[in-house]
Amino acid sequence: MCGIFAYLNFCVPCQRQKVYEILLRGLERLEYRGYDSAGIAVDYPEEGVHIVRKQGKVKMLRGIVFDIEKAECSSIVNTHVGIAHTRWATHGEPSERNSHPQSSGEDNSFMVVHNGIITNFKDIKQFLEKENYTFTSDTDTEVIPKLAHYIYHHSEEGKTLSFTEVVERVISQLEGAFALVFKSTVFPKQIVAVKRGSPLLVGIKSERDISMDKVNISYRQKENSGDRAFNIAGQSAEYFFASDASALIEHTDRVIYLEDDDVTSIVDGSLRINRLKEHAKTDETTSRQITTLRLQLQQIMKGNYSTFMEKEIHEQPESVMNTMRGRIDFTSDMVRLGGLQSHANAIKRCRRIIVIASGTSYNSGVATRQLLEELSDVPVVIELGSDFLDRRCPVFRDDVCIFISQSGETADTLNALRYCKSRGALLLGITNTVGSAISRETDCGIHINAGPEIGVASTKAYTSQIVSMVMLSVMIGSDSISKQKRCADIIQGLKELPELIRKVLKKNDEILALAKELYEEKSLLLMGRGYNYATCLEGALKVKEVSYMHSEGILSGELKHGPLALVDENMPCVIVVVKDNTYSKCHNALQQVKARQGRPITICEEGDTEVQDMSFRSFSLPSTVDCLMNILAVIPLQLLSFHLATLKGLDVDCPRNLAKSVTTE
Ligand code: UD1
Ligand code: GLU
Ligand code: MG
Repeated sequence: MCGIFAYLNFCVPCQRQKVYEILLRGLERLEYRGYDSAGIAVDYPEEGVHIVRKQGKVKMLRGIVFDIEKAECSSIVNTHVGIAHTRWATHGEPSERNSHPQSSGEDNSFMVVHNGIITNFKDIKQFLEKENYTFTSDTDTEVIPKLAHYIYHHSEEGKTLSFTEVVERVISQLEGAFALVFKSTVFPKQIVAVKRGSPLLVGIKSERDISMDKVNISYRQKENSGDRAFNIAGQSAEYFFASDASALIEHTDRVIYLEDDDVTSIVDGSLRINRLKEHAKTDETTSRQITTLRLQLQQIMKGNYSTFMEKEIHEQPESVMNTMRGRIDFTSDMVRLGGLQSHANAIKRCRRIIVIASGTSYNSGVATRQLLEELSDVPVVIELGSDFLDRRCPVFRDDVCIFISQSGETADTLNALRYCKSRGALLLGITNTVGSAISRETDCGIHINAGPEIGVASTKAYTSQIVSMVMLSVMIGSDSISKQKRCADIIQGLKELPELIRKVLKKNDEILALAKELYEEKSLLLMGRGYNYATCLEGALKVKEVSYMHSEGILSGELKHGPLALVDENMPCVIVVVKDNTYSKCHNALQQVKARQGRPITICEEGDTEVQDMSFRSFSLPSTVDCLMNILAVIPLQLLSFHLATLKGLDVDCPRNLAKSVTTE
């Protein structure tokens, strides 16, 4: 995920300084979507294009844009194209050369900003390298401008392609998710944008009211049919492209939300939307509405949610998809983790796996331990970073140590990492932050690619960490013939996961109703076992973190060893009972709670009327493979903690006394 912003003014004279200012402002608004590096490209009279890119936040970019003499701030431009980007790396560490815009080559004839992941970039890169293209970044994005360059220079004899045609041909080669904005010195004063899977919209501002409330789509056979363009007369107008409306609203409230594969171009000041003719058969509408935004800035940034935490909870269908993107082949049931390839044999040969983490990341280790043991056949131990170091645990050369951290900077985990390194173990990282200390200092690892997480209480990173650990387990297990069926079942479960998460999220209102019953309670117990012990630990952690209510996650096997004493008719208890190998034991726990006059709130599978009948309140989940149920089961608890906190009037994004990344011991 990242922020894209682009600006084109057509016959609207404006100082270059203002162009820079508009682009930087746009990026600042979008910075919450990604902030490890930023860049812009604007027209420049002699050299064609002026590019400034910088690692770090947009502030760093701002610091150097106006510094450079080249900025020519005072000159006036009549028609001008600028594109800008704020990045959250997935391919290639945050650095100047990996920042966007990415370029077709030294002449910068095609430049692109990209949000998303191109999963087949390696094949395209190989092809282009054979055609003598030299790559200067590690990004997946760089293949796009280079492919545009190649296509432009290799069209059929005698045919000169339009900018739109070039982009149409480029996207027909791309797999994965993207929003793209192109700029070209071959097509000055033009811009082309397109999206597939990632969001993009265009804002329109015109002095004279151009009275159109929709733009008709052109299909290729009716290429450039004039009546389909917006502003066909080419009156002065300004256009803004952005990843979300927060960056547009200060300029205009007239926008078009682009649909997948809408190739949107601005040529001579007129806006057109082209679609490939194969879409014509299936398209339900043949126009795009120009809508009027009625949202407040704050609302937009949080994507219509009141807080980042809520937004991130609801983002999970997409974030888990991004964790899997390009790594699972659902047709051959294969997992390919590029980041582990060179160490795969050492990982498979190890004698013990030690998972080290803190907080939510620790819980994701607990959630996946059972599967990792099952598929690796080696002992797996889970350690809290701080305790691991206090004990100065013995670590051996044939151990694999896995460090899980959203930020990749967690001090306790990092210290444990350095300790394990000195003992010669193989170090594997699982982090959401490319270029972070843990990513750099481990031998290998998996970037979870969940996109930046802003809410202090981790939600989407947790589910993506689980998915990463599940993929790792499958990678280890799939070599063994006896485990292939199991691995294939899990992969099918992963395929359906985004859709199942969506189903669970739809029941938000049920959870809100439950929160209304619970928010004045003093304490909340959560009980589960097996794959769902972690669900209870994580649910309790969320409740504590954001609602400040006392809450405890209890392994239900331990109930009678103490915690049962807490249970009476006044103590609310959430019990996770799903149909895995612990089902009958969880049933027992439920009965024990009932026997103490407790009023159990159960999380169970759809159609499990037996459990539902025994419950005071019950929340049902769609069924999936056992080791993925904990991803579904944690979501109602994330929502519950969110609603408890909101009902108490608390700031869920910034809970008291807590920081997003804990970089001190
Ligand atoms: C990676 C690369 C991508 C490359 C692609 C080719 C990055 C961020 N991704 O994506 O540019 O073209 O492979 O297959 O550059 N790593 C650690 N510790 C961690 C996490 C990751 O050392 O905690 C290492 C991995 O071992 C790997 C690199 O960082 O060498 C990238 O990991 P990841 O992004 O997960 O790999 P891919 O998705 O394959
Ligand atoms: N995959 C691209 C990169 O790593 C874009 C990432 C983003 O959306 O910021 O450069
Ligand atoms: Mg590394």
